[in-house]
Amino acid sequence: MSGRVPLGMALPRPTKSVPVGPRLLDTFGRVHNNLRISVTDRCNLRCTYCMPEEVTFRPKDELLSFEEIAHFTRIAACLGVNKVRLTGGEPLMRRDLYRLVELIADIPGINDVGLTTNGLLLKAQARNLFDAGLHRLNVSLDTLDSGRFRTLTRRDGLDQVLEGLEAAKYVGFAPIKVNAVCIRDFSEEDILPLAHYCRQQGFELRFIEYMPIGADPWERDKVFAAQEIIDHLEREFGALQIDPASDPSAPALDFDYPDGYGRVGFIASVTRPFCGTCNRLRLTAEGKLRNCLFALTETDIRPLLRERPDDAQLTEIIRQTVWDKWEGHEFNTTKFVKPSRTMHAIGG
Ligand code: 5AD
Ligand code: SF4
Repeated sequence: MSGRVPLGMALPRPTKSVPVGPRLLDTFGRVHNNLRISVTDRCNLRCTYCMPEEVTFRPKDELLSFEEIAHFTRIAACLGVNKVRLTGGEPLMRRDLYRLVELIADIPGINDVGLTTNGLLLKAQARNLFDAGLHRLNVSLDTLDSGRFRTLTRRDGLDQVLEGLEAAKYVGFAPIKVNAVCIRDFSEEDILPLAHYCRQQGFELRFIEYMPIGADPWERDKVFAAQEIIDHLEREFGALQIDPASDPSAPALDFDYPDGYGRVGFIASVTRPFCGTCNRLRLTAEGKLRNCLFALTETDIRPLLRERPDDAQLTEIIRQTVWDKWEGHEFNTTKFVKPSRTMHAIGG
């Protein structure tokens, strides 16, 4: 397979063949232990930064079944994957998603199962998900204003999301993270209300820089940089304290508020790319394996899970896919090429 894309600035790389062993290594020495699985491309919102208004979803029989996903995850776990996150589209649109959580949480070696959801369907499912062994919950919420919610998501639903968050807290998820994408000339007025709300509720707020992966034409000028958000927060709350416990290899930069109430994080994919420590591998809902959100190639593994199951070949493909990983996305350079699929179809 030749999923490798030439990168002008790439470091000299070893040319030796893919190492076999219980770890997934790439040629930059990054160890991959983190698998993000999209379970559907469907969504009940239409966030402008994520997908076009009119979209054709895949026929359901093209999606991997829960058993197929669990089978894949078992193989990945033998290769050192210990962390899984379920994404979409909107993952809770997959009926009985808690059953998949149960299957994955039971896999030896997997010790961390997370879910990223828009929260619309969370209220009814929070209890089952919690009982199934879901460890981490991230809810996407960009604004607390219902009119602005409608503008951004092209749908109504703010109250449902807030009820979902409340239910999740009630059943015991902790910490719950709230993801907010920040776009210049739109998000400014949402920053402080979100910060106050999350502090009151005990949720960890995470601001995400706007990335070129949606249907909208992306412009760098629209990226509301993490540092600008930090400045905005500091004018209200005082100097944020870098969290000494934050993991330097994690994508998020975490801070404590100066009064000790709550934490706030920043995923600065554009202004502070974290590709150098990336440990992620992605599986799309229809069974394509990708080594980067922005990868321009992917490998169809569904036949190896469905029509002619072959664990040995799957193992080899997973190793090769990681080995073929580039140094990082290039959206800060003129070489950047936007993937042909938008975020909802790849998985967030
Ligand atoms: N830039 C940054 N984040 C995005 N998301 C979706 N599209 C984009 C984009 N263009 C976020 C969602 C969700 C997560 C899965 O990805 O808001 O929190
Ligand atoms: Fe749906 Fe999430 Fe995309 Fe919004 S960002 S349209 S909630 S998949």
